[in-house]
Amino acid sequence: MENALSGIRILDMTHVQAGPTASQLLAWLGADVIKFEPPSGDITRGQLRDIPNADSLYFTMLNCNKRSITANMKNPAGKEVFVGLLKKCDVLMENFGPGVLDRFGFSWEAVHEINPRIVMASIKGFGSKGPYAEFKAYENVAQAMGGAMSTTGFDDGPPLVTGAQIGDSGTGLHLVIGILAALQARAHSGKGQYVEVAMMDSVMNLCRVKFRDHQRLTRQILSEYSVDTTGRHATPRSGNDSGGGQLGNAVKCKPGGPNDYVYVVVQEVVWDKLARRVGGAAMAEDPRFATIGERRKNQGIMWGMLNDFAGQYDKRELMALLNELEVPCGPIMSTEDLANDEHVKLREMYVELDHPVRGPWHNVGMPIKLSDNHVPIQRSPLLGEHTDQVLKEVLGWDSQQIESHRSAGAFTK
Ligand SMILES: CC(C)(COP(=O)(O)OP(=O)(O)OC[C@H]1O[C@@H](n2cnc3c(N)ncnc32)[C@H](O)[C@@H]1OP(=O)(O)O)[C@@H](O)C(=O)NCCC(=O)NCCS
Repeated sequence: MENALSGIRILDMTHVQAGPTASQLLAWLGADVIKFEPPSGDITRGQLRDIPNADSLYFTMLNCNKRSITANMKNPAGKEVFVGLLKKCDVLMENFGPGVLDRFGFSWEAVHEINPRIVMASIKGFGSKGPYAEFKAYENVAQAMGGAMSTTGFDDGPPLVTGAQIGDSGTGLHLVIGILAALQARAHSGKGQYVEVAMMDSVMNLCRVKFRDHQRLTRQILSEYSVDTTGRHATPRSGNDSGGGQLGNAVKCKPGGPNDYVYVVVQEVVWDKLARRVGGAAMAEDPRFATIGERRKNQGIMWGMLNDFAGQYDKRELMALLNELEVPCGPIMSTEDLANDEHVKLREMYVELDHPVRGPWHNVGMPIKLSDNHVPIQRSPLLGEHTDQVLKEVLGWDSQQIESHRSAGAFTK
C-alpha cells in the first residue's frame, strides 16, 4: 500500500531524543528510515535501562519502524558506506553537537555536491551562527534559554521545566515541517536544500504568546493574570492561569490526591450557566462577577467558590457535570490514567508492541492521522539488525563486498 511518504528514503544519523522523534514520525508517514549508528549504537540504547541487556525504553519508544545499520565514520571503509547511502537517499538527518559532521568531512556544501537532490536536515541547540552556536544543548537547556522556564511555575517559586518535551520532541516537529517543505520545493526545483532548526528557536516559537504578553506589559497590566504585573518588564510565571482571553485554572476535587484536579476554562458564553450551577442566582447575579473585567479583578473569590464546589466531586464526575454545561474542562490525567483510558485506546495512542529481547511494551502512538496513510507501528530495530540487508538492497553490494568492508573496520570499533 502507498503511504504519504512512500518512496522517500532517509539516512538518519540522529541520536538521543530530538532527532529520533522526528525521524520516527517520518517513518510513520511511510518513509524508509535507515538509522545510521556508530558501532556502539545510539547512546540511548543503554540509558535508563529497565531490563538487563535489552534496548532501553528511551530508545525503543523513539526509534520504531526504522532499519538499523552501523558504520564507523572514523574509518575510510565506514565512510564509503556513508557516501554510498548518501547518493541513494532523499534526506540526511542529524543532530550532532556543533561541527561533528564537518569534522567527518561532510559539511552541507560537501553533501550537496555528492547528491544535489538530497535535503539535509540538522538540529542544533542554537543554530549555526550567533554567540551561542558552539554550545551543546539538551531538553532543559533549551527550555531555559527559549523562555519556557521563566514563564512556567508560580511567581513566588523557582522557574520550572515542563513535562512535555518541548525542547527535544518539540524541535523534532519543527524539523519534520522543514523537511516536508524542502521535499515539496525539490519536486519543483529538482534541488535539495539545507534545513536547520535550533532548539532555542523552537522553544521561543512555542512560547509565542508569552512574547505577546511581554509587549503588552509596555502599555498595560496583564489583568487576566492572577499575579500583579504592575511595573514588570518581563512576562511573569503565572501558575495555572489560562494564558488566553478566557479565565482558567485548576480546581481541586475529591479525594484530594496529587492529580485530583480539573482544569476549568470559565468561557464567557457559559458563565451564567456555570455560575447558576455552582452558586445559584446569588453567584450569577453577584456584581463582583457581572462582567469579565469584574471577574478578572475578583478571580481569587471566584476560584475559591469554584474550588468549594469541585471538592464535592471526583475529577471524572466533575468533567461529566461541566461538559453537560458545555464548560471547556479537563481532568488532570496521570500517565496511569492515560495508559488505561478508553479514548486513548480507541485512538491507538498507547499501543502494545513486542520485542525479541524485552518482550511486550507500549509506545505512544502516531498523533497525525491521515486518511490514506496506514503504517502499522513496528518495534525499534536491534543494533545493526539491517546492516547486510540495507547494503544489499540499497547499495546492491554482494556478500563479498560486505565482508571486505567488515574486515576493513567499516562496522566494528
Ligand atoms: C546531544 C548532544 C549534547 C550530545 O553530545 P555528545 O554526546 O558529546 O555527542 P556529539 O553529537 O557532540 O558527538 C558525537 C560523537 O560521536 C561520534 N560519532 C557519531 N556517529 C558516529 C559514527 N557513525 N562513527 C563514528 N563516530 C561517530 C562523533 O564523531 C562525535 O565524536 P567526536 O566528538 O569525537 O567527533 C549533542 O549531540 C548536541 O548538542 N546535539 C545538538 C542538539 C540536540 O539535538 N540536543 C538534543 C539531544 S536530545
